[in-house]
Amino acid sequence: MDRHTAQALLAWQVELGATEAICDAPVDRYALAPRMARPDAGPSAPQAPANPGAPVPLAEPDPVDEARQAARAVRDLDGLRAALESFEGCDLKKGARTTVFSDGVPGARVMIIGEAPGRDEDREGRPFVGRAGQLLDRMLAPIGLSREASVYITNVLPWRPPQNRDPRPDEIAMMKPFLEAHVRLAAPEILVVMGNISCQALLGKKGITRLRGRWDQAWDKPALPMFHPAYLLRNPQAKREAWADMLELRSRLGPA
Ligand code: URA
Repeated sequence: MDRHTAQALLAWQVELGATEAICDAPVDRYALAPRMARPDAGPSAPQAPANPGAPVPLAEPDPVDEARQAARAVRDLDGLRAALESFEGCDLKKGARTTVFSDGVPGARVMIIGEAPGRDEDREGRPFVGRAGQLLDRMLAPIGLSREASVYITNVLPWRPPQNRDPRPDEIAMMKPFLEAHVRLAAPEILVVMGNISCQALLGKKGITRLRGRWDQAWDKPALPMFHPAYLLRNPQAKREAWADMLELRSRLGPA
């Protein structure tokens, strides 16, 4: 089991109310007591290590901190791509064929943020190239937008999750500093936030049915949540609302 899975399982158990770990063998807590700091004991002398010759175990680096540091250091989009490609904190990377960075026009007024690459995107190394992406192109065209000329596209996660499962909160937290840097460097005027996962990552909110079509803010930029095109493929009746949201985007941008 990898570290992220173990952490997620532990968090799940704590959420269910577990307060104590029961080990395979009983623990003599009286024997442990002298080693634990008592709140009333005042400052205590440093404890001698149990085995002075043994190497001191190093604390594992926090991948979110590592991501923050790496993302803070980048100065342009090529640097960001390189930083992502060399980031080893996220296990999704090990199962992915490619790092799916972006598509479209850097510096475009509109930046679309999806969730995570699927099989087609993983194979091609570009976001939104499968069926959902083709629908996205067909949604953009009638309002005069396209990835060739006027939008920039990326995802919250640059690596495909296994079996297209939803990204976990720890994976989103790890990638968020990179996403923030991506928005800073691409410098769009408007963010389009596609689907629940992206709303969670950018807005810290869930419930796309309620959020869609209402302007919000992410990193000081106007952000418009919309249904994800993959959701529209499964629920064609929601295309009516998606069209209204496209018109709202067009009207915010002004005439084509
Ligand atoms: N769904 C997404 O959110 N992003 C992609 O790139 C493809 C499908």
